[in-house]
Amino acid sequence: MTDGHATPGPDDFRPTPAEMPGQPPKKEPLLSRRDFIRRSVQLAVAGALIPGALSQLLPAVAPDALGGGGAGPIIRRDAATNAKIPITVADLAGAPPVVITAEWNFLPAVVYKVHKAKLQKSAEKRGYNTAQYAVQHPTEDDMAIMVYQGKCKHLGCTVGFNKGLGASKDEPDYDGDGLPDGRILCPCHQGQYDIHDLALNVPGTPPPAPLNVIRFNVGAYAGDATRALPAAADAIIGAELLVQDKPRQANADPNKAFALGSMAADLGAL
Ligand code: FES
Repeated sequence: MTDGHATPGPDDFRPTPAEMPGQPPKKEPLLSRRDFIRRSVQLAVAGALIPGALSQLLPAVAPDALGGGGAGPIIRRDAATNAKIPITVADLAGAPPVVITAEWNFLPAVVYKVHKAKLQKSAEKRGYNTAQYAVQHPTEDDMAIMVYQGKCKHLGCTVGFNKGLGASKDEPDYDGDGLPDGRILCPCHQGQYDIHDLALNVPGTPPPAPLNVIRFNVGAYAGDATRALPAAADAIIGAELLVQDKPRQANADPNKAFALGSMAADLGAL
C-alpha cells in the first residue's frame, strides 16, 4: 500500500522477508479506518445497483422469453401444450358466480360473471358506483363481467373464490335472495375481498389493500402471431391496470348511482 487512500494491491498482504522462518512474526497491515469506510460504501452501492440493473433487464427479455403478454386478451393455458388461449364469453357459461382464474400481463387475473342486481344493491349500500368497471354480458341481460388482478395484496398468492361465504363481513347478501353472494378468498392465509365492492379487502383479514382492477373490453380479437395468440370471438381483452393501494382507490365515477362501465366507448376500438 502506497498511502492511506490507495486500494490495497495483491502484494500488500504477502509475507515479507522479515516473516521468514526463524524471524519474529511481523504484523499484517491493517485497513485504515478510511479504507474500511470506503470499502463498505462500495459494497453497499453495488448491492443497491445490481438488483436495480437486473430489474431493468428482465422486462426487456421477458416478452420474448415467455412468449408475450401485456395488454391484450386475458388468457388461460392449454394444460397439455401450455399454448395461450384467450378467455371468451363462452367460458363464462353457467350459473353465477362464474369464476375463471386466468393470466394477464404475466400475472394472475380473475374473470367473474356476477348478477347485475347484486352490483346494483352493493352500489346503494356502499354509496358509490361499484359497477363502474363491470361490463354488460353480451347475451345475458341480468349478468355483468368483472376482472380483477388475481395477485393477493398480502404476500402475492393467487386468489380463489368461495361461493359459500357472504359478500363481506357486514353484508352477506346484497340482493337479499337468501343466498350468500360468495367472496374472493386467498388460499394462503385466508385473505378475503368483496367482489361487489371493487375488491375491497375484508377487514380483519391479512391483505392491507384491495385487489387491483383490470379495465377491459369484450369483442372480437384478431390474434397476434408474434405473441402466439390466436384469434377469438367475444374475447375478454384487458386494456388497463388500475392499482389500488387503499380502499376504493379506483373509484372515479362522480355519479354515485349504479351504472355499468361503457368500456367500448372509452377504451377505443379493439
Ligand atoms: S398471500 Fe393472500 S392472504 Fe396471505
